[in-house]
Amino acid sequence: MKVIIASDHGGINIRKEIVSLMEELNIEYEDLGCECGSGSVDYPDYAFPVAQKVANGEADRGILICGTGIGMSISANKVKGIRCALVHDVFSAKMTREHNDTNVLAMGERVIGPGLAREIAKVWLTTEFTAGRHAVRIGKIAEYEDKHI
Ligand code: RB5
Repeated sequence: MKVIIASDHGGINIRKEIVSLMEELNIEYEDLGCECGSGSVDYPDYAFPVAQKVANGEADRGILICGTGIGMSISANKVKGIRCALVHDVFSAKMTREHNDTNVLAMGERVIGPGLAREIAKVWLTTEFTAGRHAVRIGKIAEYEDKHI
């Protein structure tokens, strides 16, 4: 599995935490920054490249972090084929993989700390999609995208 990760200036510390987790888990990853020091950047400039690389198959999953995770998740979900969940608890991390087959995870560094973010990412990265009736529902989302987006 290859994971692509990025953050804006509000998510740098959690991004570094998740990069170290992926190294520990031997997960292949690409880190798109930001390398913005004390400056500020615009979250869509990071969300779209990550989402596009997942949508076109260059990566299997994406992880996005900003201050709240909200801007990143809104942006990522604009890209066709992306199912991005904004997650701040371990239960939702598990469910959103099992039921929604989410391919992008968003988190907010001004909402949770690095320890919880690490647990969330670990569960999200290691939980499989249950498929079955959930695949039918995902299929309906894809059908809607094909017709309307
Ligand atoms: C940046 O100040 C902040 O707006 C951004 O990190 C994020 O929280 C947006 O949703």
